[in-house]
Amino acid sequence: MSQTEPKPILFSGIQPSGHIHLGNYIGAMRNFKLLEDQYDCLFSIVDLHALTVRQEPASLRRQTLELAAMYIAAGLNPAESIIYCQSHVPQHAELAWILNCFTYMGELSRMTQFKDKAKKHQDNINAGLFTYPVLMAADILLYQTDVVPVGADQKQHIELARDIAQRFNAIHPGVFKVPEGYIPRQTAKIMSLTEPGKKMSKSDSDDSMISFTDTPPEIRRKIKRAVTDSDAEIRFDRRNKPGVSNLLGILSVCSGEKVDKICQRLEGKGYGALKEETAEAVVAMLAPVQERFHTLMEDKAYLAETLRNNAQRAQKLAQRTLQKAYKKLGLYQP
Ligand code: TRP
Repeated sequence: MSQTEPKPILFSGIQPSGHIHLGNYIGAMRNFKLLEDQYDCLFSIVDLHALTVRQEPASLRRQTLELAAMYIAAGLNPAESIIYCQSHVPQHAELAWILNCFTYMGELSRMTQFKDKAKKHQDNINAGLFTYPVLMAADILLYQTDVVPVGADQKQHIELARDIAQRFNAIHPGVFKVPEGYIPRQTAKIMSLTEPGKKMSKSDSDDSMISFTDTPPEIRRKIKRAVTDSDAEIRFDRRNKPGVSNLLGILSVCSGEKVDKICQRLEGKGYGALKEETAEAVVAMLAPVQERFHTLMEDKAYLAETLRNNAQRAQKLAQRTLQKAYKKLGLYQP
């Protein structure tokens, strides 16, 4: 982190569950490098959050390392940004307990993500799923965070984190910074390849999404099979031509060429040409990042060392806030 002017603090968390896909990469990870210049950043692999639904231990372990490698492959500098695992910093779970005592059942039961997940995992509506947003508030509040970039689906959780911070501060002033959420302007909505009316999602079928680790032949095959429509006109119209518009959006963000330019250029050429260009643009954009990713995955010792160091840096910051909270609450500190 910079030695000169202190920069505002940014916290971002991603769960190491499922695959990181093209939508995640374009919507979030690809832009992280730009944030590194403006903010002192923490990028947390929120493995404790992942436990709110059942995980296969070996997959969880592998996906945790993969996520660390992806952050670095995306261009982040782990000597600057703190890239670390949530479970390596015990202060997260400790502060979450405290904040549980400042959060109301009613608030948590109004969280739409809880309601959705409870419906989806009816055989395992555990208390962790219910208090998930409290752990998330702890993640953010531990570091005196100024800004939290999130998707629109996390906005309610950020509001709750702010409410908890304000409630706590009203009784015990000066402990937490009240964070601001910010929803980055979407460069392009990346939709499912098979059901282009829906967002590309980690929990959907493999053919519906391009995974960060897909090889060029896999990418070409999936895009070739992407749903389009029966008229052959290449035109951007999300409502009437969701599949074609999705491909145009993907091609545009990957190549940097404006959508109308692409439409002009490809006029009369048919969907085959659109698909081929889109696939090649995705392959070209991902190739250098994937190469760095694979090199990193071969150096497990480096990844382990990086995660260890960064957990220590995070612990130091987190402990300061936790200590302050304990003291203010009247927990006896010899
Ligand atoms: N709940 C977030 C998600 O599923 C992940 C997350 C956990 C997070 N803790 C966070 C995001 C803190 C931002 C800040 O996307």
